[in-house]
Amino acid sequence: MSKLAQFTKEQSPHIEDVMVRFITQQTSDTRLAESILYSIHAGGKRVRPLLLVATVAAFDKPVDLPVYQCAAALEMVHTYSLIHDDLPAMDDDDLRRGKPTNHTVYGEAMAILAGDGLLTAAFQLLAMAELAADQKILLLQQLSQAAGTKGMVAGQAADVQGENQALTLEELMGIHARKTGELIRFAVVAGGVLANQSEAVLVELDQFAQHIGLAFQIRDDVLDVISTTEELGKVVHRDDALAKSTYPALLGLEGAKAALTDELTKARQILAHLSTYGQFDATVLAAFIEEFEVKENQ
Ligand code: IPE
Ligand code: IPE
Ligand code: MG
Ligand code: MG
Ligand code: MG
Repeated sequence: MSKLAQFTKEQSPHIEDVMVRFITQQTSDTRLAESILYSIHAGGKRVRPLLLVATVAAFDKPVDLPVYQCAAALEMVHTYSLIHDDLPAMDDDDLRRGKPTNHTVYGEAMAILAGDGLLTAAFQLLAMAELAADQKILLLQQLSQAAGTKGMVAGQAADVQGENQALTLEELMGIHARKTGELIRFAVVAGGVLANQSEAVLVELDQFAQHIGLAFQIRDDVLDVISTTEELGKVVHRDDALAKSTYPALLGLEGAKAALTDELTKARQILAHLSTYGQFDATVLAAFIEEFEVKENQ
């Protein structure tokens, strides 16, 4: 088993446990809880919370309950974003994480509410975590900014307005950096905050995360073109059907792959520099970079 597969197998159950227990304890409507837990149990790669945990662990700091709570809060925000992203008014998708989308099972109203519930519960969970008050306020501020009206939500707004548009590369980067990059930035920077790192280190972690965040959405765009529904657990070729602005649409498949490789190369360089600080084991974070490459058989 690869180092990353082993890390994922060890860490994911802790993150999932926190999410499931919190939603179960804190939701008073049975059908709402069912709808939320459906999307949590549907799976997902858990990339963002795993990156957060991997960053804490890279600094040789203990991964304790508050770290898992912060990671779980992030995955809850992400899961909400997917439920809403799939709604008929947005990308109108039927399959997510290998299962029928939330709204196709529970109806649009309950899917909207499941998203609302996950978003709100995420901040409730983080606010209740046993962290020092100043650190917790910083994390709450960073997560709300990353998820919100100049972060993921703004990116989603630009994404829907970008349908059927000829955007510049700069505009497209701006969409990707916000709709996907911001939550990945939070994952890595929050890991650094939880590991009590200096401002200088946090700045480098942020730069590293911006490259892998952009890379992650470029890869998602590329896989929509070259992968299969079975492999991804979501219907492929949807971007083309919705006339989305994507990297392959703008740069062609090879151009998009080259842009992806370029972002990952820059991420590797920053990781190498971070390693010069000592007390920093880049192994798992480096394995994420490898994972984000598009392999030939994909
Ligand atoms: C899908 O995210 C949406 C994007 C931002 C690209 P993931 O690829 O992380 O989806 P899950 O969580 O594994 O289902
Ligand atoms: C979604 O981007 C980004 C989110 C904030 C959810 P996409 O619309 O490309 O994600 P998929 O392909 O549906 O997973
Ligand atoms: Mg979308
Ligand atoms: Mg979508
Ligand atoms: Mg996509």
